[in-house]
Amino acid sequence: MPELTTQRLYLRRWQAGDRAPFAELNGDREVMRHFPAPLTRDASDELADRLQAAIASRGWGLWALEERSTGAFIGFTGLAPTDFEASFTPAFEIGWRLARSAWGSGFATEAARAAAAFAFDELDLEEIVSFTVQHNARSRAVMRRLGMRHDQAHDFDHPRVLEDRLRRHVLYRLAASRSRVVQGH
Ligand SMILES: CC(C)(COP(=O)(O)OP(=O)(O)OC[C@H]1O[C@@H](n2cnc3c(N)ncnc32)[C@H](O)[C@@H]1OP(=O)(O)O)[C@@H](O)C(=O)NCCC(=O)NCCS
Repeated sequence: MPELTTQRLYLRRWQAGDRAPFAELNGDREVMRHFPAPLTRDASDELADRLQAAIASRGWGLWALEERSTGAFIGFTGLAPTDFEASFTPAFEIGWRLARSAWGSGFATEAARAAAAFAFDELDLEEIVSFTVQHNARSRAVMRRLGMRHDQAHDFDHPRVLEDRLRRHVLYRLAASRSRVVQGH
């Protein structure tokens, strides 16, 4: 059963059949350009297991994305509590990672709008945040399309990232009240 449904997508729990296409996208250097390295098959499977375990325990999380018209797994989008300390934590993050073949169709923004609505309407959160390395223009564009605002005062060096080129992160915020105005709900 899908957890969330949009016009073109299901945001659902992870299935065994997602593992191969997930490993493929995690092994793609372009998809993983803003991360330390592409993931091995084992690391990718382990991540899928972790994301599904979080959904099973909380009832929500970083959901697998399925394109409704084809049944294809195309990546993930969803919500997670931050798991490190920074000036803006504790907080709830909205995040996304899609296969390159699924870029340029608006899928990340469509899925993120559903996840943001879930955060505000079902979880009653006051605010969600998103962050990424400074030069991840595509991810920052998704944040802007969602109506998120760049809060420069809280840009930060990610404590888990060791590589200089990837350490500086930008912080974006979306308040429940603003989301309702932007999305019209
Ligand atoms: C970040 C990421 C999910 C963004 O994907 P994306 O395809 O650029 O974003 P969207 O799904 O919102 O699609 C927007 C694009 O689709 C186009 N589009 C086409 N049809 C559309 C439609 N029906 N609705 C909306 N946009 C549409 C938009 O014009 C836009 O095109 P542009 O990039 O040429 O301006 C993707 O680049 C990715 O997975 N990157 C690697 C992982 C990563 O860095 N994740 C973030 C880490 S914090």
